[in-house]
Amino acid sequence: MNKIFSALAISLIAMASCTPARDSRMDFCVSQVKTALEHLDADYTQSPRNIAPGDTVWSCREVSRECWTEGFWPGILWYAYEASQDKTIGEAARNYTEALEFIAHSKAYDHDLGFIMFPSFGNAYRITGEQKYKDILLETAGQLSELYNPAVGTILSWPREVDNFGGHNTIMDNLINLELLFWAAENGGDPNWRDIAISHADKTMENNFRPDGTSYHVAVYDPLSGRHLYSCTHQGFADDSMWARGQAWGIYGYTMCYRFTKDEKYLDFACRISDAYLDKLPEDLVPYWDFDAPCIPQEPKDASAAAIVASALIELSSYIPGEKGANYMETARKIVDSLSSNYCSAGLNDAFLLHSTGHKPNGSEVDYSIIYADYYYIEALHRLQVSK
Ligand code: GLY
Repeated sequence: MNKIFSALAISLIAMASCTPARDSRMDFCVSQVKTALEHLDADYTQSPRNIAPGDTVWSCREVSRECWTEGFWPGILWYAYEASQDKTIGEAARNYTEALEFIAHSKAYDHDLGFIMFPSFGNAYRITGEQKYKDILLETAGQLSELYNPAVGTILSWPREVDNFGGHNTIMDNLINLELLFWAAENGGDPNWRDIAISHADKTMENNFRPDGTSYHVAVYDPLSGRHLYSCTHQGFADDSMWARGQAWGIYGYTMCYRFTKDEKYLDFACRISDAYLDKLPEDLVPYWDFDAPCIPQEPKDASAAAIVASALIELSSYIPGEKGANYMETARKIVDSLSSNYCSAGLNDAFLLHSTGHKPNGSEVDYSIIYADYYYIEALHRLQVSK
């Protein structure tokens, strides 16, 4: 009997020593999440969005079909719960996630359905395996697919902006929503959703990028003939500039397209556009809000773009053997280190990171803490942990 116990003890010790120690930066995130939950008043229809410079607590938006960021807070809670197994955080993750269910039952307002539902319900299903979360994701994918225009071959990103742009518009950010379609097609949904995602990714590659691998925010098409009319910016400095977060969505997006398709074309493209971004970064590896903004180095930074790219590069590195893959991983680590030491809120407010820029041309959320920066930062920490 004693022998059995000592064998068991030895294997438990071996298992414990094989489990990588948790990154202290994840501990910081868990602690920040707990503090934020104490400051929020448990109204799950109010979703944390940003913290202005000098403020200390999250400013919230009422959840609605017209907002794109309400999935990130529940997504953060799921990652924090996964790392800590803290029951209070887990319960909040469920409650904030389930407050978004109505979106699955509503007609798509725009392309942002993946942004809203994959960090929330996607992580809920990944962690709990509960069927109800899967059903919601499948229903949402159906709503998103309704925005696909087969004449163009892409999803209409902003139905409300058709008149303004003079046609069917497709924006860089829209790539992230393809994750929901790819996933749903593989998990019991309509197989055609995969074809939609592939067509959208291919057209975006054709018309939202320049030959040097930098990106346009928006491509506009004739909705009937599908002809590409022109490409331009919306949130960037100029039509021909590289808006940092747009490029970050591209890097994350094509890496994810490779995950689902294993088509080398997407992998090569993800590397090319990553290199176009990485080659032009400032020394601390966190970009100014637009790489071509006129007053660099006085321009505001965008920590959210850095967090998105760090998370994407961790995944990208896993698909690339040898030195090239190792270099992407090393760069991702350095970006996370820079964010953690130079952009950390460090008790100034309830977020993880400072210094993100939402929409500079509109003058909104400039140099703020923004919820999606925190989401991709904690996702990067999670990916670093599981890659060990
Ligand atoms: N999806 C909008 C943005 O990146 O700001």
